[in-house]
Amino acid sequence: MTLPSLTIGNKTARHCIIQGGMSIRIALADLVAAVANEGGAGNIGGMGIPPKELRRHIRATRAKTAGLWGVNLMFAGMLFDDLLDVCIEERVDFVTIGAGFARGPFKKLAEAGIPGVCIISSEKAARVAARTAGITAVVIESGQAGGHLGPEDPNISTWDLFPPVLAALRQHGFTGPVIAAGGILHREDIDRALAMGADGVQMGIRFAMTEESSASDAMKVKWLEATGSQVEYWSPTGMASRAITPHTEDQLPKLTQEGVHCAKCLKYCLHRDTEGHTVSHCIYTALNRSQKGDPDHGLVFCGPRVAEIDDIVSVKEVFRRLLTPVASLAETLAD
Ligand SMILES: Cc1cc2nc3c(=O)[nH]c(=O)nc-3n(C[C@H](O)[C@H](O)[C@H](O)COP(=O)(O)O)c2cc1C
Repeated sequence: MTLPSLTIGNKTARHCIIQGGMSIRIALADLVAAVANEGGAGNIGGMGIPPKELRRHIRATRAKTAGLWGVNLMFAGMLFDDLLDVCIEERVDFVTIGAGFARGPFKKLAEAGIPGVCIISSEKAARVAARTAGITAVVIESGQAGGHLGPEDPNISTWDLFPPVLAALRQHGFTGPVIAAGGILHREDIDRALAMGADGVQMGIRFAMTEESSASDAMKVKWLEATGSQVEYWSPTGMASRAITPHTEDQLPKLTQEGVHCAKCLKYCLHRDTEGHTVSHCIYTALNRSQKGDPDHGLVFCGPRVAEIDDIVSVKEVFRRLLTPVASLAETLAD
């Protein structure tokens, strides 16, 4: 069976695979364009970078591909409005918004004629999303994803979360594409998601672990060595997150430490906004350090299935594997 295509707005990706946005500076032009050139949909990780830099990455991506790609933004980010304006000015194919929700940004995108893609993790959010103008597609992200998590139960799998949230979206009248995300690594995972009614999948860690990803080599080694990842309730956003452990608070950077300056990356930060900066750590510095090559003093986001990936390959090779159908039981028995 060949994978179906995926249309977002008036552009179509040949294959129903979206590469998840990965900040800070993990998913940039090389990765995003490679995914789009292979017939998937790429996503620039737009969080934690200044608007000027985002504009550069957008233009660099456009120079490398005519395929389908967008930008991922986090509503919780301090520069969200400015970054959204850049996406609109640059007329990207779509904008994916997670980590918080408001109707305004989707309205703004709709007025500009740019499709909005909303990331949700609950039936309650599905009801709101279905009634929000400007949401063209929805990603349902489970507790198996890397990074910040939305589900009430942060351990819930895609297989348990997706069906009721999809049903809620449809029940409340949402007719656009619905994408499954979290722990989708192999072709059989994609087939399973499609069988549950998904129109496509969003994949993060498989694309982070490619030659084209802008993660540091040291980060890629951490992912290769990882045996799993844990949910820890430490993110200064107040959200549950998944990262490779162990990390004690002492290992993570604090604003009071030398060389750690507040980039004011979040609208609300438990660390910055706590007197004496005693709670938690600086997430921007922690993620930035890993991307720059020092993951031992930073954070390395990933979901629990990371242990199933044992190589760093090209995006082309990832697509070759994902596009190879899994032999059906009947074919296997006939061999
Ligand atoms: C290193 C890393 C960074 C991520 N950063 C973001 C981000 O900035 N914004 C976002 O919406 N999701 C982010 N995610 C989630 C991914 O976009 C994706 O939806 C999720 O990882 C899917 O699960 P998978 O990694 O098991 O495929 C990140 C994931 C990883 C692994």
